[in-house]
Amino acid sequence: MRMVDLIEKKRDGHELSTEEIKFIINGYTNGSIPDYQISAWTMAIYFQGMTEKERADLTMAMVESGDQIDLSKIEGIKVDKHSTGGVGDTTTLVLGPLVAALGVPVAKMSGRGLGHTGGTIDKLEAVKGFHVEIENDEFINLVNNNKIAVIGQSGNLTPADKKLYALRDVTATVNSIPLIASSIMSKKIAAGADAIVLDVKTGAGAFMKTIEDSRELAKAMVGIGNNVGRRTMAVISDMSQPLGYAIGNALEVKEAIDTLKGEGPDDLTELCLTLGSHMVYLAEKADSLAEARKMLENVIKNGEALEKLKVFLSSQDGDASVVEDPSKLPQAKFIYELEAREDGYVSEIIADEVGTAAMLLGAGRATKESVIDLAVGLVLRKKIGDQVKKGESLVTIYSNFENINEVKDKLYENIKMSTTPVETPILIHEEITE
Ligand code: URA
Ligand code: CA
Repeated sequence: MRMVDLIEKKRDGHELSTEEIKFIINGYTNGSIPDYQISAWTMAIYFQGMTEKERADLTMAMVESGDQIDLSKIEGIKVDKHSTGGVGDTTTLVLGPLVAALGVPVAKMSGRGLGHTGGTIDKLEAVKGFHVEIENDEFINLVNNNKIAVIGQSGNLTPADKKLYALRDVTATVNSIPLIASSIMSKKIAAGADAIVLDVKTGAGAFMKTIEDSRELAKAMVGIGNNVGRRTMAVISDMSQPLGYAIGNALEVKEAIDTLKGEGPDDLTELCLTLGSHMVYLAEKADSLAEARKMLENVIKNGEALEKLKVFLSSQDGDASVVEDPSKLPQAKFIYELEAREDGYVSEIIADEVGTAAMLLGAGRATKESVIDLAVGLVLRKKIGDQVKKGESLVTIYSNFENINEVKDKLYENIKMSTTPVETPILIHEEITE
């Protein structure tokens, strides 16, 4: 096989075979096919797309390019949840204990990464003593005993995807639905998921800004999962404004605790119940989505979900007393209110810009070397559609430095007001199962 012939074949709109895709991905991973040929090939994909079969083949070739996590020693159907990324997305912290309380095994491998706030691991490290440096055997035992554990990223997972993503980043080929879908799905499958629930965000703060693009990405990922034998479904949810109120690490842990107590923000609670119902259903712990939802509401009401959070934190050496007393979480030195400058209704909260404001306070990483301040961040006091009186707080700002003018300016600029009433955005747009 010659790579040049395969580039030509894709360029002219023909379907590549399973063997041809394997040849390309193996050759790229081991260095026998150079960047410039892969660049031409990804650009051909950008314009020609990929068939459903090609997407599944590309995904599995990337899965097979490195290690695969073996979760077979964990009893039950392992359902993983993945979000395409947004601002202040606290769902993972809530969903883990919530579905684990119903016996769904949550075997989570998580990373740190760049962004407005830290990743799930950073957030959990706001709990004193909590750590994810555990051995594989211990991880498996914890999930079997408690139904939930989190381990740091280890091993050489999907090296082909790492190389390809970095190349796409500098060749204007990130924004291709088949390439995004196979990139995300390869990582989930290599991490050992039997079934996958996807939260595809849509709106200003999301990777996909329009409902049409979000739907296409969701369908592509659901298609890949179901084609390679992993039951997969997707929810398309709103990211035109941040989810919940809190954006920041310790602040989001507190928000997750509130939500597991049944006292969380409406939108975060609703999204967790929706995603959680699908997880419980795919794990075959309920016969219908309606039954799954009732079971989830029940473990919030009777305290079992909160109890599960305590067990989870203490089993990884975290101080579980924060659940009863969140003031034990890292606290910021200064607390400011962003006061409304006029009467009206909140019409827009530009999620990614508000996320950047949290990052300016130190809540997230701009580069791999940045150090996160777990205590700082923002708590929204108003969301889109809320009525506001002049002088009322729009946002509470938790900071460890005194001068926050830049943060305030950014927030004023990106929280827009209207003099006439505004509708609350739709939270859940669609649920896609095939
Ligand atoms: N996220 C990924 O993991 N891969 C992509 O290609 C795009 C977003
Ligand atoms: Ca939040």
